[in-house]
Amino acid sequence: MGICWGVPSKEYIYSGNAETSASEGTSNYHSNDKRFSATSSGVGSGKFSEAASASPSPDGADLNGEILETPNLKVYSFSDLKSATKNFKSDNLLGEGGFGKVFKGWVDEKTLAPSKMGSGMVVAIKKLNPESVQGFDEWQSEVNFLGRLSHPNLVKLLGYCWEEKELLLVYEFIQKGSLENHLFRRNPAIEPLSWDRRLKIAIGAARGLAFLHTSEKKIIYRDFKASNILLDWHYNAKIADFGLAKLGPSAGESHVTTRIMGTYGYAAPEYVATGHLYVKSDVYGFGVVLLEFLTGMRALDMKRPSEQQNLVDWTKPILSQRGKLKNLIDPRMEGQYSFKAALQTAQLILKCLFTEPRHRPSMTEVVETLERIESIKVKRKQPPICSHSSANRHLFIHDVMELYHELGTCHNVAITKQWMIQQR
Ligand SMILES: Nc1ncnc2c1ncn2[C@@H]1O[C@H](COP(=O)(O)OP(=O)(O)OP(=O)(O)O)[C@@H](O)[C@H]1O
Ligand SMILES: [Mg+2]
Repeated sequence: MGICWGVPSKEYIYSGNAETSASEGTSNYHSNDKRFSATSSGVGSGKFSEAASASPSPDGADLNGEILETPNLKVYSFSDLKSATKNFKSDNLLGEGGFGKVFKGWVDEKTLAPSKMGSGMVVAIKKLNPESVQGFDEWQSEVNFLGRLSHPNLVKLLGYCWEEKELLLVYEFIQKGSLENHLFRRNPAIEPLSWDRRLKIAIGAARGLAFLHTSEKKIIYRDFKASNILLDWHYNAKIADFGLAKLGPSAGESHVTTRIMGTYGYAAPEYVATGHLYVKSDVYGFGVVLLEFLTGMRALDMKRPSEQQNLVDWTKPILSQRGKLKNLIDPRMEGQYSFKAALQTAQLILKCLFTEPRHRPSMTEVVETLERIESIKVKRKQPPICSHSSANRHLFIHDVMELYHELGTCHNVAITKQWMIQQR
C-alpha cells in the first residue's frame, strides 16, 4: 500500500503495508460481530491521491458528488474532543463497533471548534479502542478516502485527532443511526421500515456505491452491510466506514489482490476464496443487503435453524419461485407493495448475487432498476359493487381472492409467516 499522504497536523500519515505485513494464515476477529480478516498472498493496491479525480465518469453518469483535491478536515487535539463529549461521558455513547466507541459531541457550527455540551452542532466522535487490531490502518483509510469524498449518500468526515496512541474521527451526526437498528432491532420505539422507505434507502445507498465505482479510479468499498448505512431524519442513506476501502484495479486489470477482510455473510464468494477483490464484489454485498430489506432477516443468524442460518444460501433457490417468494417477504410490509415490484426486486437480488462477478450488474444499472421498481405502485382495488347477479358475485369472489393473494394473506401464507416471526 505504502501511502504517504499529506495531512495538516503531521508531515504525512505513514502507512506501513499492513495488508502484506500480517503473518500468513492469521485471522483477526473484530470485537462484537462477524467481521473477519484472514491473510492471502499479494499486495493491496495503492495511492488514493494518485487515483482520485473530480472529472466526470466516462459513462456520463450524474454522480452528484465530488472528490476534493485535498481533504478539508479539522485537526482536533485530544483535549478538544474530551471537552466536546464531556470527557466521553457514557450518556453520550451512540454505539460501538470494531474500531471502538462512538460518542455524541458538540462543536461550533461555523468553526467546528469544540463547544459546550448541548450548544452548537451535534457530531459523532469515534474513538479507537486501543485493543482494536486494525485500528491505525482503518483510521488512515477513513481519513484518506472519506476526507476527500463528498456525495449526498456518503457520511461527511469533519475532522480527526491523532495524538500519540489516541486516534479519533469526527463525523456529521446522522440522526436516525444505523439501518441495522431499524431493520433488525425489535425496539418498540422504532417503527418497522415500510416498503417505500426500504426502497428509498436502497436507492440512496446504491447511488453512493455507484459514485465510488464510477470515479475515474474506481473505489471499492469492501464492507457494505446494514450497520454501515446510516439514516438521516428523512431516511436518506449515508454510507459510513471507509476503513476497508480500496482503490480499484489499474487499467487492464480486473481485480486487486488483497488480504481478505470484511464481514461474514456479506463478502463476495470470489473474494473470500481467493483474495481477488473486484468492483463487482461490492455489488454482491449490495445484493445481500437488498435481500435483508426484502426479507427483514439478517444475512447471518445463528438463531435460525441450521439450513437457514446463511440467508443467501437458504433463499437463493427460492427467490425465483413466485409462490415461495411470498413467504419470504418481511410480513411487516404486508399490503405496502405490489407483488410485481417484489418479484423484480428478487430478480435484481439474484443478479447481484451471481457467482461470477462479471455477470453481476454495475451499481449504475442497479440504481436504474431500483428507480423503475420504485415507480411501480400498489394497485388499490375499488370496493366491489354488491349485486345479486351470479356473474357479479363470481367477479366479487374472484376480486377478493386476488386481493388476498396479492397481499399474501391466504390462510396458509399467514401461518407460514407467523412461523417465520417465531423463528426470528
Ligand atoms: N455519524 C454517525 N452519526 C450517528 N450515529 C453514528 C454515526 N457513526 C456511528 N454511529 C453509531 O455508532 C454505532 C457504531 O458504529 P461503528 O461504525 O463504530 O460500528 P458498526 O458499524 O456497528 O460495526 P463495524 O465495526 O463492523 O463497522 C452505529 O451503529 C451507529 O448507531
Ligand atoms: Mg460501521
